[in-house]
Amino acid sequence: MDIPNHVAKRAAKLKFNSRLPFSANLPYQGLFAERLPLIHAFTLALHHAALARRKQSLYRKARAWLAGDDFAFHAAECGVYMGNSLVACAQMLRASGLKGRFHALDTFSGLPDLSEADLRLAPENAQYRGQKLFADTSFEAVKARVAEAGISDSVVFHKGLFADTLPHLPAVQYHFVNIDCDLFEPHIECLDYFYPRMARGGVIFFDDYGSREFPMARAAVDQFMLDKPELLFHLRTGNDGPNRTKTYIVKY
Ligand SMILES: C[S@@+](CC[C@H](N)C(=O)[O-])C[C@H]1O[C@@H](n2cnc3c(N)ncnc32)[C@H](O)[C@@H]1O
Repeated sequence: MDIPNHVAKRAAKLKFNSRLPFSANLPYQGLFAERLPLIHAFTLALHHAALARRKQSLYRKARAWLAGDDFAFHAAECGVYMGNSLVACAQMLRASGLKGRFHALDTFSGLPDLSEADLRLAPENAQYRGQKLFADTSFEAVKARVAEAGISDSVVFHKGLFADTLPHLPAVQYHFVNIDCDLFEPHIECLDYFYPRMARGGVIFFDDYGSREFPMARAAVDQFMLDKPELLFHLRTGNDGPNRTKTYIVKY
């Protein structure tokens, strides 16, 4: 499908901005090239979960149903900000026809204080050394966006620091986790929690692995994955940019 002229012209003038809502529906606009690896990784996770569901025995399906967990797909997003990636993925989940849940974790009031590791690794001129980033959002605003998108029944919010909210997540296996939280310790906290809880074929997406602004994301993922067997896959659509190359693993 061709991109209509007026859309292409408008997109050419705009610059990518993580506040701009984007759609996971075709045609993908060039402006959102930075978002496409997420769409790809999420689709992969949906395929793996659907395949696993088909292979599941009747006995296991019945056991899950009796345990009150007949969801075919469990997902989480660690770092929601205004809800743009959350809404796009939750809409794709709905369109897939799989019954699923999306856990949305964030302070909904911006990045926590920088740790010693963050201060050591952050570029000298990083804006966030002197300013709290991603504070221009709110829990109420994101909840309203999710309601407006018609996906409230599949999204569960967990407001607060990951260290406080992760222990309260349900005891399930996850099929997709988007780790988009920029800083060192939050990456480690999320990986410590989710990696052992991933279903086989489940995908963990690292939005900031290739970020020049937040090199601590890559340092944290590399440290965590050092003794793990999974390969890191790198994806980039379009030109290079400060955070254009995205990374994911598929759990063995
Ligand atoms: C880059 S934004 C997320 C962007 C969003 N995924 C999107 O694509 O639109 C990073 C978010 O991580 C959250 N965050 C970082 N560390 C956190 C922590 N330890 N606990 C809770 N939220 C955290 C921040 O509040 C911020 O909203």
